[in-house]
Amino acid sequence: MQITFSAAAMPKSGAIIIPLFEDGKPPKSYVDMDAKTDGAIARAVKAAAFKPGKGKVLEIVSPPEIDNSRIVLIGAGASKDFSLLDAESLGGVIVTRLFPMREKSAVIALSGFSAKKIEAGELAARIAYGARMRSYRFDKYRTTEKAEDKPMLTKMSINTPAKSAKPAFAKHDKIGDGVFMTRDLVSEPANILYPGSFAARCKALTKLGVKVKILGEAEMKKLGMGSLLGVGQGSVRESKIVAMEWLGGKKDDAPVCFVGKGVTFDTGGISLKPSKGMEDMKWDMGGAGAVTGAMMAIAGRKANANVIGIIGLVENMPDGNAQRPGDVVKSMSGQTIEVINTDAEGRLVLADVLWWTQETYAPAAVIDLATLTGAIIMALAHEFGGMFTKDDKLAKQLDAAGQATGDLLWRMPLTKNHDDMLKSDIADMHNVGGAGAGSSSAAAFLARFIKKGVSWAHLDIAGMAWNPKDKATIPKGGSGYGVRLLDEYIRANFEK
Ligand code: BES
Ligand code: MN
Ligand code: ZN
Repeated sequence: MQITFSAAAMPKSGAIIIPLFEDGKPPKSYVDMDAKTDGAIARAVKAAAFKPGKGKVLEIVSPPEIDNSRIVLIGAGASKDFSLLDAESLGGVIVTRLFPMREKSAVIALSGFSAKKIEAGELAARIAYGARMRSYRFDKYRTTEKAEDKPMLTKMSINTPAKSAKPAFAKHDKIGDGVFMTRDLVSEPANILYPGSFAARCKALTKLGVKVKILGEAEMKKLGMGSLLGVGQGSVRESKIVAMEWLGGKKDDAPVCFVGKGVTFDTGGISLKPSKGMEDMKWDMGGAGAVTGAMMAIAGRKANANVIGIIGLVENMPDGNAQRPGDVVKSMSGQTIEVINTDAEGRLVLADVLWWTQETYAPAAVIDLATLTGAIIMALAHEFGGMFTKDDKLAKQLDAAGQATGDLLWRMPLTKNHDDMLKSDIADMHNVGGAGAGSSSAAAFLARFIKKGVSWAHLDIAGMAWNPKDKATIPKGGSGYGVRLLDEYIRANFEK
């Protein structure tokens, strides 16, 4: 969907969308259109007893005075407390309503539509951003879908007198590119997206000025990454680590490192998962997907900061060569791990990637994202990512970034008791905890691979990477969760 901004007269074809608050005077766009159509709008509102509550819609099909196909009034709810995220939702709702109307083009008429505390350009930009986010579809493998079943809306124009709308949108649009990349990665099936092909897609970021480095198994072996390599050894696909370096900040500033779990498919390995629902494990690379999309966003808008995205890409398969429950592996850190459950593989991958990250980049902060545990879905469903950190300042910064973007986080406990659950009789640790607190013991496992003094947070996004049902700005499917969160964390804390 192409999005444009204009302050000129409204186009004479397609649908005209007029958002309204339920309180205060109707906006200029409404008053003008009512005058132009000889009162048709007010008559329709009266006949339908239309009240512009949030998401409520009144469709008025082509009054004779205009050439446009229809006028759609859309409720924005109460103007008081209307937030930037509400503006995005409004844009999303507009697209949701327009798709089934079979319109090819539409204009959102914003003149006079204003919310307290929000600058007019930013308001228009956020409506446009929400519309674009909701327009996403992953339909590359649908070969028989009839044209009439596909959404036809290809042109969305935003009619606003605010000159600042277009440049404001341009910034959000770059972040949107990152969100779409993540959604694409998460949606791809595992026969298409495996460590090698994932790494190849990361290469595309080179165009944006990102330096992309790829490690293969031979290098990882030299580095002593027995923990990561053990997970991938049952797969015919070679494991990879990709580092994406964006150095947009001062030369001497230590970089922020984002680390992602990229299990391109998680069968569980020899500790095989039940077959029901196993197809979901194609998105067990959601952490790596979010990190990759965030790097695209950050590089795309040329952020003034040094940021590195590092992803560990492996496929967890059962095989004659797969690792067994009870195997002991040695991580790059030197610590040994007794692999009690081959399905607790994400932490084994991250153990080596986190260690390598700290050795290679001496980071200012490390934030890892991983679809790590089913237990986090029990605790937080699909509402929040779980945040584990011992650093209160970092927790605050991430929480603020979550609230600003809607990529919400909830802080979870990480204590010595959780670490105690990892004791092994024959190695330095188990890869699983005891009964209960599975997300916290997983975090405690990762903490053993964080050096003293390093500022680190782990985000368990198992409930967030995939969106089980349509939301205002996120269609069902890959959500892109984490991209905006990481981008905003950089913007708010590292850029001048
Ligand atoms: N990838 C899964 C976690 C997961 C489950 C993500 C459901 C998204 C939806 C992870 O590798 C896993 O299998 N975790 C186990 C850990 C257990 C064996 C300690 C789990 O959560 O059951
Ligand atoms: Mn698993
Ligand atoms: Zn997994």
